[in-house]
Formats: sequence, structure tokens, C-alpha cells
Amino acid sequence: MAHENTFIMIKPDGVARGLVGEVISRLEAKGLKVEKIRTLTIDEDLARRHYAEHVERSFFPDLLQFITSGPVVAMQWSGESAVSVSRTLMGATDPKTAAPGTIRGDLGLEVTHNIVHGSDSAESAERELGIFFG
Ligand code: RTP
Ligand code: MG
Repeated sequence: MAHENTFIMIKPDGVARGLVGEVISRLEAKGLKVEKIRTLTIDEDLARRHYAEHVERSFFPDLLQFITSGPVVAMQWSGESAVSVSRTLMGATDPKTAAPGTIRGDLGLEVTHNIVHGSDSAESAERELGIFFG
């Protein structure tokens, strides 16, 4: 166990559906702490940097169109094991199979529109926090 920072982003569908408070409440209720927060609309260049590991994937055009489609809420969160704990709260990538009780399992239905992003490792968190808050 270690105190960590992680990058969490409420995607355009979450913002458009009015789920910003719901997502933040769940993370706060778990005991994580919001350290930084900003709203922005991601452009293509930023999307390609943030999702660099996915640019060659077949789903990237859909992901690019979606993630640039409206405002997002970008955040730095901290706490014990914040990277894995927040990923557990988010649930599996595809909301159709994400467990009930998770953000995606309770609130989503379709893999592209899966409400939240969370860093998948401490190294990813450092890279992504640098992109959005550096
Ligand atoms: P994220 O990076 O957004 O937190 O999601 P994740 O780690 O759970 O999933 P990842 O494999 O990193 O995929 C990034 C995002 O791409 C979209 N996706 N679409 N159509 C598809 O098969 C597919 N697979 C992934 C999702 O929006 C996913 O969150
Ligand atoms: Mg990912």
C-alpha cells in the first residue's frame, strides 16, 4: 500500500448526462481526495497524446470522435493505492459486463460511452497528470 496520485477524467457522456457529482461523490465516499480539477474540451492533438497506446487500434476513430465531442472534467485524485482503488470503483471497460456497484456497471451501457477514464498504473498516472496539469 502506498499513497498515490492518479488521473481521473469524466468523459463527455458523463458530463452531458449530469453525472459529474455522482462520480465525484463515489470517489470521495471511498476516501479518495480530489487535489486538482479543471474542465476542458479535448482536441485531436491532446486525444492522440492521452491515448497514445491506442492510436493504431481499430476502435481509435470512434474513441477520438467521442472524446473530443464535448467538455470533460479532468482531475487529480490522491489516496492509498489510488490508482487501483479508483479503477475498481470504475469497473470493467465495457459497461455491459462491468459489475453492479461500479460506476460503469451502474451507469453505462456501451463501451465507447463508459463515463470515466482512470490511469491504469502509477507510471500512466504520472504521464497523464503531466499532460493535463503539467
Ligand atoms: P480508459 O483508458 O478510458 O480508462 O479505459 P480502460 O483503461 O478501461 O480501457 P482501455 O483499454 O484503455 O480503452 C480506452 C477506451 O477506449 C474505448 N474502447 N473501445 N470498441 C472497443 O472495443 C473499445 N475498446 C476500448 C473505451 O472507451 C475505453 O475506455
Ligand atoms: Mg486505459
